[in-house]
Amino acid sequence: MTIPGLFISFEGIDGAGKSSHIQTLADAFRAQGRSVTLTREPGGTPLAEKLRALLLHEPMDALTEALLAFAGRRDHLRQVIEPALARGEVLLCDRFTDATFAYQGAGRGFNLDVLSYLERLAQTGCAPEPDLMREPDATLWFDLPPAVAAQRLTAARSPDRFEALPPDFFARVAQGYAARAQAAPQRFIRIDAAQPLPAVWQQLQAALVARGWLGGEP
Ligand code: TYD
Repeated sequence: MTIPGLFISFEGIDGAGKSSHIQTLADAFRAQGRSVTLTREPGGTPLAEKLRALLLHEPMDALTEALLAFAGRRDHLRQVIEPALARGEVLLCDRFTDATFAYQGAGRGFNLDVLSYLERLAQTGCAPEPDLMREPDATLWFDLPPAVAAQRLTAARSPDRFEALPPDFFARVAQGYAARAQAAPQRFIRIDAAQPLPAVWQQLQAALVARGWLGGEP
C-alpha cells in the first residue's frame, strides 16, 4: 500500500526568503525516508518553463499573465504534481496558485472572480478523482513587511519584470497573500520571515511537526 502524497507550497513576496528553506525541508523529509519532488511555478515542466520565461520577461496585460500562469500550472499538475502524489511522494512547490491571486489579482488588480474560475478550470480533472480541484495540503506563507523584502532584494541579482515593480505593488501583493491566508486558515501556515534564518526554519519545522508530517518534538 502506498502512503498518501503530501503537497506543500511555498509563498511570499519577492525577497521573503522562502527559497533558502525549500532544500532544507526536502532534506529533512528525505532523512525520514520519504521520496521528495522539488519543483516550482511558474515552471516545473519543459512547457511551463517556456511559459515562465515569457511571463517574467515579456510585457503583457494581467489577463495574459493569468492565462499563462494557469496554462503552465495545468501542465505541471498533469505531468509532475499528480504523478508524484500518486506515488506517495512529498511534493514541495516554490509558489502555486496563491501567487496568481497575490500578483495578478491583488498586485495588478485583476478580477478575483475570474481567477477563481480559472483556478477551478485548471486544477480540476488532473487527479484520478475527476471532480477534485487539486490544492496544496499546506501553504508555508513567508510573511515579511514589503520594505524589509525590498532591502533584501537590492543585494540580489538583476530583477525580473515583477521584482522591478515599485513598493506599492508589493504592498498590494502582501495584502493579497494576507487575504488568501484569511480565506483558508486551515491550509495556510504563517511564518514570520523577518526573523533570522535559523528562527525561521524552527517555525517551519515546528508547524510541520505539529501536523504530524515531520518527526521530532512539536
Ligand atoms: P520567484 O518564484 O521569486 O523565482 P526566483 O526566486 O527565481 O526569482 O519568481 C517568480 C515571479 O513570478 C515572482 O515575482 C512572482 C511571479 N508570479 C506571478 O506573477 N504569478 C504566478 O502565478 C506565479 C506562480 C509567480
